[in-house]
Amino acid sequence: MPKYKFATLCLFALSLVTISAQKVADVIRPGEVWLDNRGTPIQAHGGGILYLHHTYYWVGEDRTQTNDPDKRYVGCYSSTDLVHWTFLKQLAFTDPEHIGPHWILERPKVFYNTPTKKFVLYIHLDGPGINNTDPNATGYKLARVGVYTSDHIDGPYTYIHSFRPLDQESRDIGQFIDDDGAAYLIFESRPTKGFFIAQLSEDYLTVAKQTTFIPARLEGGAVVHYKGLYYVIGSHLSGWAPNPNVFATSPTLSGPWTEMQDIAPPETNTYGSQSSFLLKVSGSKGTTLIYMGDEWKPKELWDSRYLWMPLDIGVGTLKLPAPAPWTLSTKSGVATVLSATVPSP
Ligand code: DGJ
Repeated sequence: MPKYKFATLCLFALSLVTISAQKVADVIRPGEVWLDNRGTPIQAHGGGILYLHHTYYWVGEDRTQTNDPDKRYVGCYSSTDLVHWTFLKQLAFTDPEHIGPHWILERPKVFYNTPTKKFVLYIHLDGPGINNTDPNATGYKLARVGVYTSDHIDGPYTYIHSFRPLDQESRDIGQFIDDDGAAYLIFESRPTKGFFIAQLSEDYLTVAKQTTFIPARLEGGAVVHYKGLYYVIGSHLSGWAPNPNVFATSPTLSGPWTEMQDIAPPETNTYGSQSSFLLKVSGSKGTTLIYMGDEWKPKELWDSRYLWMPLDIGVGTLKLPAPAPWTLSTKSGVATVLSATVPSP
């Protein structure tokens, strides 16, 4: 082989190695163990993202196997690129309402309130009932939210109160911050056979008013605003088991909402995941909308995985593509889905 051809071949091979090395390190891999900066699997299940001062904060349920069974835990991480996450704190909470040993803290979401400079943490607070005397009693009868505040994203958090938003049962909660900064709580209520989106009060400590009620029995609700349309997604009620998640759109947050449609081929059960959050990343070249879902393992919750994928969005259409490794530039807002064979690090 002529020398110049050999040299070109070598250069080509070298560039491939460089590209794949960069990609290996910077790739989001749906369904794989996602390690933080300590090399520990990220514990932020049923979580949400707060974007503040050019930093993303991921807050969710910490289900570490060795956790104290009397406490409930929230994992808190930060990132600037949404790929590499720095562990900030494992926040530990004690039963705030004397619910009993089987009290439930799920789907924590943190808001930042600019006027009070407080981080406001909402949790789905549940269990068999307040002051239940049977230590074995379990269940989701309480259906409330709990609210905490802190001066820092990673605590310590002070318990404020618990309540049923709009006097309705509230199970899975979601959060939405609109482009104008207004903050909303999304919550599911069984008796009304649907879910609510409600605007928070000025200090975020309570719910001020109903924005919309969507008469669809869905949980894991999440909302995003994109090119003049609001997209809401949710999961059917099947416990920890995945089901075909659906979406609807509306020109305003208060409706009218379209009929629900599947976000993925229904036989895939949303590729084995359940909706948790929709994240909009806008940059110099475009906007990526990210589906954040949980692949729950109910018997090994600590090993539940995350399915994050950039969504295919048209005008009023939304599709969750089949999971594959992908990269994202938070600067340009551009996501690139890679071939499924990109090697793991
Ligand atoms: C479905 C919810 O979305 C989860 O957060 C959790 O509450 C499970 N149900 C419990 O069965």
